[in-house]
Amino acid sequence: DGHPDLGDNPLDGPLDRVRVDDSGRELTTNQGVKVADNQDSLKIGLRGPTAMEDFILREKITHFDHERIPERVVHARGSAAHGYFESYADHSAITRASLLGEAGKRTPVFVRFSTVAGERGSADTVRDVRGFAVKFYTDQGNWDLVGNNIPVFFIQDAMKFPDLIHAVKPEPHNGMPQAASAHDTFWDFASLSPEITHMLMWHTSDRAIPRSYRMMQGFGVHTFRLVNAQGASLFCKFHWTPMAGTHSLVWDEAARLTGADPDYHRRDLWEAIEAGQFPEWELGVQTFSAEQAAQFPFDVLDPTKLVPEEMVPVRPLGKLVLDRNPDNFFAETEQVAFCAAHVVPGIDFSDDPLLQGRIHSYIDTQISRLGGANFHEIPINTPLAQIHNNQRDGMHRQSLNRGRVSYEPNSLAGGCPFQAGAAGFTSFPEPLTAAKVRGKPELFADHYSQARLFWNSQTAVEQNHIIAAFRFELTRVQTPAIRRRVLAGLVNVAQKLAQGVADGLGMEVPPPLPLATDLPIHNYPPSSALSLFSR
Ligand code: HEM
Repeated sequence: DGHPDLGDNPLDGPLDRVRVDDSGRELTTNQGVKVADNQDSLKIGLRGPTAMEDFILREKITHFDHERIPERVVHARGSAAHGYFESYADHSAITRASLLGEAGKRTPVFVRFSTVAGERGSADTVRDVRGFAVKFYTDQGNWDLVGNNIPVFFIQDAMKFPDLIHAVKPEPHNGMPQAASAHDTFWDFASLSPEITHMLMWHTSDRAIPRSYRMMQGFGVHTFRLVNAQGASLFCKFHWTPMAGTHSLVWDEAARLTGADPDYHRRDLWEAIEAGQFPEWELGVQTFSAEQAAQFPFDVLDPTKLVPEEMVPVRPLGKLVLDRNPDNFFAETEQVAFCAAHVVPGIDFSDDPLLQGRIHSYIDTQISRLGGANFHEIPINTPLAQIHNNQRDGMHRQSLNRGRVSYEPNSLAGGCPFQAGAAGFTSFPEPLTAAKVRGKPELFADHYSQARLFWNSQTAVEQNHIIAAFRFELTRVQTPAIRRRVLAGLVNVAQKLAQGVADGLGMEVPPPLPLATDLPIHNYPPSSALSLFSR
């Protein structure tokens, strides 16, 4: 039929329905009427005005006028690929998620990598966090693990997310800078939000300028839950480890590439897959009980903290292989809708207040980005598991549900869907009794211990890169008070760091920012630090 041979990927079924082969066909309008002349509009005389009647011209221009959709409010710039996830073993002791239930079981995936701050056409090799979003088309429905390449986040509560993004995005009066954190509003916000300190260490390190998407780690960031068929639950942290190793660019390479080849990461991913060098990652989890979590010197619901691997080793679950480029960037990479709320039986949320807010945000933004409530019907978003429910209508509805009945309970329908009971998703019945309040748990206020852990984990060369990155960023900051506040925060991480940055800026090291808590800065054993990079 002229389609490329796509192998036996089960996702080909849904995508095949919409694949179009135009080669060697006669051109038509959207109504299927053949077009005689695609070069010239209909005119009153060859030198006369164009006739309003030219429905062919008008359809063509009208469609073109509406080609663009809004870009993602964050993570606008990205690249994606198809592949599969293969479970190493039967992991049903820890989760009833079927994709992990059998050795060798393969589940199709679509994975999108992205930068956070830049616009859709911005450069790839900027200093930024990278998104690492995986859609698993499991036989229990879609599971989206919408992660980043850095295991911690800037803030602790969804309430601050719009502020963070307003601060990091180009400044609203002049639209600058593009795709960079090096400006006053970002550092103003950062210097007034000490919970950002751990993330700043990663953000100024080589981790924020990956060499390739194929050479990045990925993290679920939040604590999640795994639940097995008996209802037993463990907390977990998800890790993706690249088989090619974790590699970064140095700043001078990144800066040069941003000019010479803004598509550097997109091209690298595309070309590796075209060449048959399929990138691979291992999925692992750190699992721990609520009782263990209660002993940690940090709160596992705080997304600015990681769980050091000495405390809880990473257990490998399976591997991810990306083996096919998309057919169409817009249809797949642009229209894919990942969502932190998409979980399957066996995977559940924790009460991390950042994650709780994400559960709302993704579907909400996609209703406006993808034009209404039916974007789950766009082929790249459609699960392989079947959809049966009483949801109806809305903009661009494709499904042709039949019969009189779209409600429950009913006595009229023959084949109305019924609730699945034990086979369906059941939230982990976490017992909770507490006052309804705004605020934070005490350990959330320890902003420096893990920032120091990260700093101590770095070699002298890497520490110098961090100092150089702070200097570069802060020389772009016009307001002296902001620079001073950033330096005052760094004193709490390491004197050497604060001194190195201050020297570069020609400033004195100020007194440290007061700690937000009576808790002392926790000193992790040195080995904890080293093993962050042991692989
Ligand atoms: C994309 C919101 C935190 C990873 C997005 C989008 C929104 C959003 C609105 C655009 C989605 C779209 O248009 O399809 C939020 C909110 C957060 C938050 C409100 C905190 C309260 C995080 C965190 C991570 C993350 C902690 C990493 C663990 C991503 C990724 C994408 C994304 C990877 C891009 C997905 C894609 O490739 O399409 N986020 N986000 N976000 N977010 Fe978040």
